[in-house]
Amino acid sequence: MHDEKLYIVMVGLPARGKSTLAIGLLEAFRKSHIQARIFNNGNLRRKYRKPQETSLAHFYHPDNREAAALRKKLACINLERARTYIHGMGQVAVIDATNVSRERRKMIEERLDDHPIIFIECLTDDEDILALSILEKTKLAEFSHLDRLTAEREFLRRIDYYRMIYTPLTGERNYIRLDSLNHKIIEEKHSDAIPLYLWVRDFLVTDVVKNLFLIRHTETEYNLVDRIGGDPSLTAEGVSQARALGQFFSRRKIAFIFTSSKLRTVHTARLIAERQGDCRIIPLGEFDEINGGVCEGMTYRDIGKSMPEVFQKRESDKYHYVYPGGESDETMKPRIRRGIKKAFFINRHAGHIMIVGHQAVNRMILSHFLYRPDVDVPYIYVPQDRFYHIIATHGEKQFKLRSYTSL
Ligand code: F6P
Repeated sequence: MHDEKLYIVMVGLPARGKSTLAIGLLEAFRKSHIQARIFNNGNLRRKYRKPQETSLAHFYHPDNREAAALRKKLACINLERARTYIHGMGQVAVIDATNVSRERRKMIEERLDDHPIIFIECLTDDEDILALSILEKTKLAEFSHLDRLTAEREFLRRIDYYRMIYTPLTGERNYIRLDSLNHKIIEEKHSDAIPLYLWVRDFLVTDVVKNLFLIRHTETEYNLVDRIGGDPSLTAEGVSQARALGQFFSRRKIAFIFTSSKLRTVHTARLIAERQGDCRIIPLGEFDEINGGVCEGMTYRDIGKSMPEVFQKRESDKYHYVYPGGESDETMKPRIRRGIKKAFFINRHAGHIMIVGHQAVNRMILSHFLYRPDVDVPYIYVPQDRFYHIIATHGEKQFKLRSYTSL
């Protein structure tokens, strides 16, 4: 029998990107006119129980029978709602919860036995990502009565308690185990005819960019004399350029601005953030400018004069040339990629994502979305008086170089 309806069941420890993925899937389904809905156990828990009860880790300890029974009850309510939805107009129901024990998944299989189920397990152990995700989680209303350190400690403990009952997917009939940071499938098993399987699979491995504003830090002391690398400050012109950026973006909600760890990107971001309400600046070392090694802090002219072989070799093969003691475009590519993945993971549900980077860094980020041949990357135009606006979704691709000074 050809079945059109589907249950998608998320699996994974807290803060592994399950809800981000579920929401992304829901948006994509809706765009394709597929009736879908998310059934999130956490939301139900937050609706019916007081934060004082559910924010503390003890509530999630496997030996806390009373709380376990309550959590099971809430899970069952959601399963029942999902089943009712699928019986009606719904085509896809996404069950968003940890579902880390085999026992819980068995219960789901028994209760949702009318249509196929695919389990999606989200995995990531990146320390930075976890720390940032946990920081975001602890800002939720559920933790507002606790100080930040207590909230973090309780959340980490909660994760440990879930770990005690965790069994990775193996026995289930249909599943995908996903590296949720890198959008890579680690393992998949497909025993039944699963409606929309290729569609879902394609979604999981695709980088979707709704609105990426890719900005180069504004003018610095070094830019004036063509000096590379280092950690220079903005010039007065750089400050007024950054203020103009702030003014330009003041009508758009930017939740996060990702920068490198360098002064010039953070300063540019601060001046943009000043015009935003609640906007966080997140410096990522992954977005630091290409490391010029022994040439850091020198002007191109100095390099040409005192190290002509460096200059010539770089001229003849810019993409592959590694600065002595530093990097090439090629060798910095993996860290830039890591930075992109982190930024997109943290940015989660926000519609707009902003990165304030550097010349070589922004070229690499652009090439990630443009699919330009590698050797062309070091020549992409990255001015300081304009920014790139990038959209790359299933149905739409747009790369625009836009001015922020004209209205
Ligand atoms: O000149 C500014 C700068 O960001 C330097 O710090 C960096 O070395 C350079 O641009 C990268 O551009 P290119 O690869 O063209 O030398």
